[in-house]
Amino acid sequence: MRAQIDRRTLRTDRWWLPPLVTAVGLLLISIYAAARTFMGEYYWVDEYHYLTPMYSPCLSQECLPAAAHFGRPLPELPGFLTPPVVILPFLLGFRVTCYYYRKAYYRAAWLSPPACAVAEPHAKYTGETRFPLIAQNLHRYFFYAASILLLINVYDAFYALGTGLGLGNIVLLVNVGLLGAYTLSCHSCRHIAGGRLKHFSKHPIRYRMWTFVSKLNARHMQLAWASLIFVCLTDLYVALVASGTIADPRIIN
Ligand code: FES
Repeated sequence: MRAQIDRRTLRTDRWWLPPLVTAVGLLLISIYAAARTFMGEYYWVDEYHYLTPMYSPCLSQECLPAAAHFGRPLPELPGFLTPPVVILPFLLGFRVTCYYYRKAYYRAAWLSPPACAVAEPHAKYTGETRFPLIAQNLHRYFFYAASILLLINVYDAFYALGTGLGLGNIVLLVNVGLLGAYTLSCHSCRHIAGGRLKHFSKHPIRYRMWTFVSKLNARHMQLAWASLIFVCLTDLYVALVASGTIADPRIIN
């Protein structure tokens, strides 16, 4: 039931600012991610074993052999496709179906509604009960896939420590820390940890896990943005070192 008022909203604050910032932020990050995905180079620093998380795991024949930590089981990709297109559907699926991002882009992109107590332009509301939005319910499965990719990123970060310690290693480690915190703070993860239990007292370990995940979950929006921005910065850093634009400051050789 909508309020029967002739104005779109009675709010007098700058309610349009958060959706605008969200829309601009998501657009810029999407452009950067698309550009890097289709660049197809500068994803591996041979000297220090830095692999950008955007190309990990690198599984097709185009991958540089040293960057393919799990082999190259996939054939050469056709046309303009590059190795990240293999993992992108899972990473994108995880973020796009995330409860926080849903709220963010429903407001920022579809204005549905743009903010609390501001009428939306759409006449009808069907929620997430029909195709394609019913696919949002696949989030839990994307969580599983993203968790595997996260473990691979952790492996990459520690693998790179085999060559010493440089700023790039710290960047890779902070990146997996943020990605890990974001993934663990997921609502599906919280449900897996402590959902469907009638008595927490009978499941002390799951209760502890649920308590821990719940604390992270309270920061899910912040972790969503921090991990998304930092994964781009990590990729940019690896690309700059791989292309020879900057040198990686070394702490231990
Ligand atoms: Fe955001 Fe699962 S709810 S990642």
